[in-house]
Amino acid sequence: MSHTLLLLMIALLCARVQVAGEPINVQEGGTTILPCKLPKTLTGNENLEQISWQRKTKGKPLTDNFFTITKDEARLVNGPDRRFKYIGTFAEHNGTLQLSNVNVLDAGTYTCIFSIFPTGHPQTTVEITVSVPLQTSVNSTRPTLGNKEVPLVTCTAAGFKPPAKVSWQIDDRLKDKVTWTNNSTLLISDTTTTVSTLFGKPTKEINRNKVQCVIISEKQNETLPFEIQIYYPPLNVNIKKQSEGLVFTCEAEGNPNPTITWSRSGKALPPSVSAPSTQGATQGATQGATLTFEKKSPDVNGLYLCEANNTYGSNQSFLYVDFSPGTSSVTGWVLCIILFIILVTGSAVFLYKHGYFKLPRCLGFDREEVRTSSPNEEENENASV
Ligand SMILES: *[C@@H]1O[C@H](CO)[C@@H](O)[C@H](O)[C@H]1NC(C)=O
Ligand SMILES: *[C@@H]1O[C@H](CO)[C@@H](O)[C@H](O)[C@H]1NC(C)=O
Repeated sequence: MSHTLLLLMIALLCARVQVAGEPINVQEGGTTILPCKLPKTLTGNENLEQISWQRKTKGKPLTDNFFTITKDEARLVNGPDRRFKYIGTFAEHNGTLQLSNVNVLDAGTYTCIFSIFPTGHPQTTVEITVSVPLQTSVNSTRPTLGNKEVPLVTCTAAGFKPPAKVSWQIDDRLKDKVTWTNNSTLLISDTTTTVSTLFGKPTKEINRNKVQCVIISEKQNETLPFEIQIYYPPLNVNIKKQSEGLVFTCEAEGNPNPTITWSRSGKALPPSVSAPSTQGATQGATQGATLTFEKKSPDVNGLYLCEANNTYGSNQSFLYVDFSPGTSSVTGWVLCIILFIILVTGSAVFLYKHGYFKLPRCLGFDREEVRTSSPNEEENENASV
């Protein structure tokens, strides 16, 4: 019983060897066998002198004798190509080659020719087709805030034959703010790569809006969702006093979400003042970090700095704390003016870079112990108008 099975399997395998003429399809980058075996019926007492391979491919459109096998050696005729390897056995009249890292230029006809004395030149032919995998993707161009139209996102459909149709599905409120253009390139593999680019003004208004890239083709239809991202440094850094206790929060807006760090004049915080640092990982452009004073004592007096950072820049805001008993409002004003100077010099570079210069302000000064100031207070106001 098992013998019959074995024979059946051998018969099937042999049948396969004999249909070596059937096309073989390989994925780009893959490995294939170029089978070549002289049928038994043709080998009598004749002498096999040589096996040679010819090809006519996309890369070599003219017939090219590229490989010769004799009983002593197997070699490529014109220069080395490590992708071809002889894996047959000459004594068994087996001229099988292996081709690895196949590319689209390898597609074509391969002919294996036996030189037999005196019978002649029997040959087998195999057709190799190379398929290019379909690839679709949607990629951000990482636009930063601005008011000139720029590419916002691209959608790519590669490996399609015939070409894929690429378009965008856009919400009504975004329709008049974006446009798109498509660019198709026909590759040597006969497949087409289509890139659709969505353009628009990179404003906060379109930040985090959702769009969809729609790819339609004979083989598959696909919808790729994407959330538009407009990147910008921390713009508004606001310090607010909480209603309960001596707790302040610092909020900053930016994309990606800024990391917020509290310090006292650039140094570490006193032990009775705590501030857990936050990471800009959560969704939403604004988030806070708290600064908590456990007690009102003069040793925590000073200028506190809230710094917001992301990969596009940094920005800061200041909090002036004075818990000394009986600080007169004159002292307060003097300190506030000193604060002005620190802020102006500290933020001069930032402001200069942005093409304008403005003074930070001391907000409503009274006997309250704390005051806050931000180098871009006016910018905040402008933004909220
Ligand atoms: C020819 O050689 C290849 C590689 O060693 C092998 O896979 C194949 O089975 C051989 N063909 C025959 C008919 O023996
Ligand atoms: C289309 O893409 C090709 C290849 O990237 C580029 O050379 C060509 O300039 C593009 N054409 C347009 C109109 O963008």
